[in-house]
Amino acid sequence: MADRDLRTEQELATIRAWLSETYGIEATLSPLPGEHDLNYRVSASDGREFLLKLHADGGADELDMQVAVLEHLAAKASDLPISRAVRNRAGAVTGRIELRGPRTARLLSWLPGDIWAKAPLRDDASATSLGRLLAGLDRNLEDFVHSGAKRLYGWDIGRADMHRKHIELIGAAEKRASVDAVLDRFTSVVLPRMATCPMQVIHNDANDYNVLLDEQGNVSGLLDFGDMVETFRVIEVAVASAYALIGSRDPVATIAALAGGYQQVNRLSETEIELVFDLVMTRYAVSMCMAAKQIRDNPDNTYLLVSQDDVWRELSRLQGENRSIAIARIRDACGLAPIPQASAVVRWLEKNAHDFAPIVRPENARPKVAVFDFSAAGSEAAQWASLDAAEAEARIMAQIGSEHAAFGIGLYGEDRGVYRGDTYETSIEGARRSVHLGVDIFAPAGEPVCAPFAGKVAFIHDDAVAYGFGPTVLLEHEIEGGVRFWTLYGHLSRQCVARLSEGQLVEKGEAFAAFGTAGENGNWAPHLHFQIVTDHLGLGGRMHGVGVGDQWQVWREVSPDPSVVLGLSVPVSVIVPRDKAFLVRERHRRIGRSLSIAYSAAPLKIVGGEGAHLIDEDGTRWLDMVNNVCHVGHCHPRVVKAAQAQMGKLNTNSRYLHDTLVEYSRRLAAQFPDPLNVCFFVNSGSEANDLAIRLARAYTGNRDIITVDHAYHGHLSSLIDVSPYKFAGKGGEGQAAHVKVAEMPDLYRGRYRYGDADAGRKYAGDVRNQVAALAADGRRPALFFSEGILGTGGQLSLPHGYLREAYAHVRAAGGLCLADEVQVGFGRVGSHMWAHELQGVTPDIVTMGKPIGNGHPMAAVVTTEAIAASFANGMEYFNTFGGNPVSAEIGLAVLDVIRDERLMHHCRVVGDRLMDGARVLANKHPIIGDVRGHGLFNGIELVRDRETLEPAARELDFVIAEMKRKHRILLSSEGPHHNVLKVKPPAPFSVEDCDRFLNALDETLGRLSV
Ligand SMILES: Cc1ncc(COP(=O)(O)O)c(C=O)c1O
Repeated sequence: MADRDLRTEQELATIRAWLSETYGIEATLSPLPGEHDLNYRVSASDGREFLLKLHADGGADELDMQVAVLEHLAAKASDLPISRAVRNRAGAVTGRIELRGPRTARLLSWLPGDIWAKAPLRDDASATSLGRLLAGLDRNLEDFVHSGAKRLYGWDIGRADMHRKHIELIGAAEKRASVDAVLDRFTSVVLPRMATCPMQVIHNDANDYNVLLDEQGNVSGLLDFGDMVETFRVIEVAVASAYALIGSRDPVATIAALAGGYQQVNRLSETEIELVFDLVMTRYAVSMCMAAKQIRDNPDNTYLLVSQDDVWRELSRLQGENRSIAIARIRDACGLAPIPQASAVVRWLEKNAHDFAPIVRPENARPKVAVFDFSAAGSEAAQWASLDAAEAEARIMAQIGSEHAAFGIGLYGEDRGVYRGDTYETSIEGARRSVHLGVDIFAPAGEPVCAPFAGKVAFIHDDAVAYGFGPTVLLEHEIEGGVRFWTLYGHLSRQCVARLSEGQLVEKGEAFAAFGTAGENGNWAPHLHFQIVTDHLGLGGRMHGVGVGDQWQVWREVSPDPSVVLGLSVPVSVIVPRDKAFLVRERHRRIGRSLSIAYSAAPLKIVGGEGAHLIDEDGTRWLDMVNNVCHVGHCHPRVVKAAQAQMGKLNTNSRYLHDTLVEYSRRLAAQFPDPLNVCFFVNSGSEANDLAIRLARAYTGNRDIITVDHAYHGHLSSLIDVSPYKFAGKGGEGQAAHVKVAEMPDLYRGRYRYGDADAGRKYAGDVRNQVAALAADGRRPALFFSEGILGTGGQLSLPHGYLREAYAHVRAAGGLCLADEVQVGFGRVGSHMWAHELQGVTPDIVTMGKPIGNGHPMAAVVTTEAIAASFANGMEYFNTFGGNPVSAEIGLAVLDVIRDERLMHHCRVVGDRLMDGARVLANKHPIIGDVRGHGLFNGIELVRDRETLEPAARELDFVIAEMKRKHRILLSSEGPHHNVLKVKPPAPFSVEDCDRFLNALDETLGRLSV
């Protein structure tokens, strides 16, 4: 055994004996790396694991600080994933040991995970989770004070200026210049701004060897409190970012993710957020100075040089970033407007637009324009790419001529393939600048350019490269509050620009420039690129004309939509498509969180629909088995055509006479037997049910309502009250005094089950009970709500005779009976147009919604003349949109398609096939407990045990996720136990679709049992 090994063995034996004696722990030990201390992983014989730190004497204050902070956090933040001090037999958190001299020993709990630098999975979500952890830590350290933290410490970058004297020790001139620039900016800009920023004790060293990640890439622990210092809080974020971004594809995205995570837990001020980017570079500069000093003091230590490679590479990358864009991206991630002044500029433009002068052709107040599509994904992209400037000009001018247009337009927000060359590369691999930040105006060379409002020539630049801007001018404009912005004019003529000088004033409407030729304008067909600029990014006349699509939330503020300045008769901008992660983030920010996202773990971005299929942004077709709203098929051409045609003619409220409305009411009422003859038109199922309550109250003079347990009838306050699914669920306020709930007639798991021929009558007995309960209080029901098949109840078919008996009890007490056909109507049940007809009843009121307009927001109530008459009591029922001509045309088209395509019959045939097939699967897969439904409104209930009926909700979640992931079939769950597979596809769902579904379900259930 070598001397060294022998010594290590002896040392380990010493420690083992000490651990046994001091802590009563028998353990094996593995040495770990450490800069100042001796560190060991301790594996106790009982399976527990610890970290043992042996601190050399000296630095007592610092060690005491480390002990104190763990005590502080133990009392305040027991949930933070940090090492916890373990007490020895004497109850102390430190002990003494003799090992290469006297040392203080601390035993700490072991944290699970891989260190960041070596973790297999780490991404920007990891950085966000690190930000959140550090924010939680800092919140708990706000009131921590310790003399050891009040130190002048080289690694406190709040004192970075103290390293300037070491810059000269850095060998390479290029590096020296970089570090000098960073520290110069630190002293002149960063430090003065930090004066107002909060200070406290921070961890100060969340580096890639001190942060642990779990298998999903989330932060699972933070180690080593030895670098704590009292300094500016924001330095915590900067230090962590400096390590987290090492090797990341897009360093600014990593900083933004980390700062954004921090902000979620501990709010940073605007100033702090704006300083993070510079402070990350400051950390690198300090590190380079410290290394240079150490190498001077320790010339043989080449290791120090190696560790500097990352630092220099990352500093160079960050110095290659545009600071304004980087800060804007970090602001955005922290929930701030990316460009603070942008909204004031846009508001000013909108407020003053009436007073702007035309930029071209001032004589033409409402010019006709020809719009061109230059997008990379456009149908003409290949053709445009094949033309040279002269050919493009000829083609553009020909189209302008043939359309008798005054000029042509190229759109703002368009993602274009024409921007070739290195100029459009960014520092981020794979991310090019390709999204158009201005509007192009095409007209012959020499066309005069007028200022839309007064300004001052701020920048003149000749971007004389192929595909560049050519001669360019930026006018500067100042608005209220001293806010400045610029308008950019690119592709001008060299001659006109030569006449301008910076500082020159330009009047509103003044023709100050002219379009250049292809030979001078960057080799484009002659046109003006007009762009609004709220921040010229320090680029002045070299300002970019195209931005990065993935960062559109920032670029659209740098250069907002110029439509407002142009005021043309056609849209001159397009919506820039964004990736799913961004859309989720923006939805969370801008749309109420109570609206959930389907398949939230892997949401879909749906951009099209056809028949029973939805189509995502990649063109993948998904079989839609949950959309009973688009009943006659997504984007059915007859419905679309009817809507478009009527939209092009007229859309008003229904107080004017209109043939279509009268025709539609006749056709809709004809779907019902007498005396259901009178229609009311509304906009949603909820509105229909709310109106039904009012009708019933008017007619009966009663107020109370009876509803079926677990039902859902709408989102209005009045309907939440009659929806046990809502009022008795999460966030619900419980049962209202005017509502009675009748037992849900569930033939599968209820009190009376399949095989009980009298179950309908027995369940209806509880409706009688509710009527009796009201009567006992001297009250009578106004209305009884029920669907013909219970949707939220779990796709439950009603027992024979249920509605007949229930209606009789309600009517006997003077109440009315409502059939809610919002989910189940319009022939879906196959044998009948309406689900209540399965029960052989005629309701007093029927409400319709969802499928009625095939996705267009409309709904209706049908009732008797007598009930309608009782409601006409002097107070008008006016509904702005209900029954408008467009809705009426759409409603008619839906009825026509159901009739002409024999969709009711189709629902029956395919629905029977589906249920037969599912019953065959039930013989093979015992998890299928029940198969039920009518036509294409079905439920397949999964249970773990056919005796106990234990719901298989988790298994159903798996089935739904796998049917989506593997088979591209969209389904969802239903029922009080979330264990019913809900089936309600658009009616064109075909026999082939049905077989595909059954095969996929068979395969998925097969995997479930493995
Ligand atoms: C049975 C039933 N009634 C009423 C409604 C409410 O319809 P809307 O969402 O159009 O207001 C719904 C909606 O899901 C429903 O399922």
